[in-house]
Amino acid sequence: MSEGFIIETRDLRKMYGPHLALEDVDVQIPQGAIGILGPNGAGKSTFFKCILGLITTTSGEGSVLGYDIKTQGDIIRSRIGYMPEYDSLDPDLNAIDQVRYAGELLGMNPAAAMQRAHEVLEYVGLRDQRYRKIESFSTGMKQATKLACAIVHDPEILICDEPTNGLDQRSREFMLKTLRRTVDEGGGTVLMSSHVMDDVQEVCDRVVMIHKGQIVINRPIADLANQIEKEVEAVIWGGASKMEQALISNDLRVRRMGRVMRVTIEDENTIERIISIAAKSEVQIRELREYEPDLEDIFLLIMDKLGARVKGSSELMTSEHVGGE
Ligand SMILES: Nc1ncnc2c1ncn2[C@@H]1O[C@H](COP(=O)(O)OP(=O)(O)O)[C@@H](O)[C@H]1O
Ligand SMILES: [Mg+2]
Repeated sequence: MSEGFIIETRDLRKMYGPHLALEDVDVQIPQGAIGILGPNGAGKSTFFKCILGLITTTSGEGSVLGYDIKTQGDIIRSRIGYMPEYDSLDPDLNAIDQVRYAGELLGMNPAAAMQRAHEVLEYVGLRDQRYRKIESFSTGMKQATKLACAIVHDPEILICDEPTNGLDQRSREFMLKTLRRTVDEGGGTVLMSSHVMDDVQEVCDRVVMIHKGQIVINRPIADLANQIEKEVEAVIWGGASKMEQALISNDLRVRRMGRVMRVTIEDENTIERIISIAAKSEVQIRELREYEPDLEDIFLLIMDKLGARVKGSSELMTSEHVGGE
């Protein structure tokens, strides 16, 4: 496979019985901080498990760091840190033993694993809790412990499946900061899945959007705004409904939020048309400016274009945890 990409797949398909979870995914992922974004059930966890060689693929191929996901899963897993979505911890262990054990499973010798366990637990903010049993941990502490297990062997690639799931605001911020720090200091690659736009925005430079088992976007976050049509935002005074109707009957596309109309810019005449429609409808335009969508809005617009009935990311928040095969 070609140079420069750390993960590549070709026609990668995964079926669970009759259910198609990944549909012929062709993706090339370069180094860096990459967010795998998509609603629940999109196929994010399945994608991770396939490229880690943890589940058998139905058809197609893939490689990670040049290794074949079908036959070299062991090597891949020794070079990658994986923080799974499900609770992978043993509640009876204390954190230090859990992390050391994870290192030993990855082939580290016991002394090295122990030393690294101390280091990584400090790194994830659990220095003072390292001798406590995991059963006494909060969700945030458990997620941090999972992260420590994933980085104990100093992997080239870190894969985190929904690392902020179930976290309160403080733990969430800490987790995201730690991940960003791993990218900046480690110079490696972090792949993080989330159904929350903000998480991806805070950590990642590139977004891979997955929808119903297909990759629909794979590009730098900075380019994402170019994917959608530009809009102009007009704040209307007196007769917003009338204005909305008038825009629609003049074949303009409008998204209305109360007094604010976001009108798709069709061509260089759109703004003039909006002004003259307002004059004819006898409503006043208070403000008229190019709309700068945030990432959340871009996500919704792209989903909308794809025909997904997703109204807001809050609708995506209910997560169904899916464990192994
Ligand atoms: N072990 C499994 N058996 C059957 N269906 C599964 C299994 N794991 C996932 N699925 C289904 O495959 C689809 C993708 O799931 P998943 O990869 O977990 O999505 P995501 O991580 O994006 O929420 C979903 O429709 C899910 O219900
Ligand atoms: Mg998942």
